[in-house]
Amino acid sequence: MSEADPAKNPYPWRMDDLVSLCARRGFVFPTSEIYGGINGFWDYGPLGVELKNNLKALWWQRVVRERDDVEGLDSAIICHPRTWEASGHVEHFSDPMVDCRACKKRFRADQLDDAGPCPAREGTSEHDFTDVRRFNLMLKTFIGASEDAAAVAYLRAETCQSIFTDFRRVKDTSRQKVPFGIAQIGKAFRNEINPRNFTFRSREFEQAELEFFIHPSERERWFAHWLEERKRFHRELGFHAGRLRVRPHTAQELAHYANAAADIEFLFPFGWQEIEGVHDRGDWDLRRHTEYSGKDLSVTDEETKEHFTPMVIETSVGIDRTALALLVNGYEEQKLPDGETRTLLRLHPAISPIKVAVLPLSKKLAEPAQRLAGELRRRYSTFYDESGNIGRRYRRQDEVGTPFCVTYDFESGTDGKVTVRERDAMTQERVSLEGVPAYLHDRLEVVL
Ligand code: GAP
Repeated sequence: MSEADPAKNPYPWRMDDLVSLCARRGFVFPTSEIYGGINGFWDYGPLGVELKNNLKALWWQRVVRERDDVEGLDSAIICHPRTWEASGHVEHFSDPMVDCRACKKRFRADQLDDAGPCPAREGTSEHDFTDVRRFNLMLKTFIGASEDAAAVAYLRAETCQSIFTDFRRVKDTSRQKVPFGIAQIGKAFRNEINPRNFTFRSREFEQAELEFFIHPSERERWFAHWLEERKRFHRELGFHAGRLRVRPHTAQELAHYANAAADIEFLFPFGWQEIEGVHDRGDWDLRRHTEYSGKDLSVTDEETKEHFTPMVIETSVGIDRTALALLVNGYEEQKLPDGETRTLLRLHPAISPIKVAVLPLSKKLAEPAQRLAGELRRRYSTFYDESGNIGRRYRRQDEVGTPFCVTYDFESGTDGKVTVRERDAMTQERVSLEGVPAYLHDRLEVVL
């Protein structure tokens, strides 16, 4: 686990503490761990997959389902290789790279501040760098039985290119008219030179992207609209206001075809970093795919009969980065009045992997408690735990972000009530057994 500069960590805990919680509790851990892992590839365990699925479901709900001007797509990961020529990736999608002749390590030339000392040179700790070369970040594979140049294909470097190549098909089948959008969630792959900061920069990751097609005269309006929508989404996730900011790109940072772009950034232990980009991509994508495929991707306005190539406003969020930001945002090591420390994940209930834990006070109460858990499980991701003292069981739920624990005690059989404990304030309330689903409904289903 590397941190750019631990001294600058604004949090009163170390990133390694969170990384170890993630592995220990089954959120995220290195892939192929028994073989030593592969740098830049991660597996999401039972809790991690729930968290990520909740995040994706919320994005899909807000961006696709709640709008009648956005359609969904799930395209293949491997696109026709011409796609990446048209998009400019084959030619331009590269990072500057240097090698150290002494220690044989490879670095991004624009991130040499993080290179650290060279372990292989005598008399100096400085690296012996080669000249800067460009390194294309697309991961290559071969299709079919041969491995010659004609069989080369790429794992997609971003999910949006199929949205452009499928533009006409989706538009015609859904009978949408500009302005409208196409959204997709899926894996993307980049052969990053230095994957780092846990899942933040990985070689395989998930993106949730929306490409919104508009008339050229409406660029400013739709860019402002989508930037506002996306800010709202992140605020809704419960990020602390002081840890979230929008950073407009400078003119130098803008792609040559772009009119405007802004990053939504989160304050990680390793500094302010992008979790989402909102981009005005102009008509670059549809024009290039028209040129490379020979297929017309322009539209005609039915009223004015104007013929034009739509412009695109894009919102592109990393699911893994947002999941990591949510874990960072929620992680706390809290000193309790009795001197103990409780580790807490203050996750928004809509994102929490487990919504409710059912905890009988004694194993003798297992039968009615399991009955309650079975009933709740039909609606919510529910965890049942009857072992260990109740305080320890609460702590185990706190550190994975479970918003509610329901305790079935010795009175429950006679007064028909259970104790519901809330994670953040640790308040406890007696609730009638039959009232538990409604109690949870009021508190858990506010978002989705
Ligand atoms: N279609 C536009 C596009 O792909 P990007 O800024 O390269 O734009 C968008 O990527 C988002 O994808 C980023 O904001 C980030 O959240 C996520 N992302 C990009 N590279 C990543 C990586 N190596 N590891 C994890 N997430 C990444």
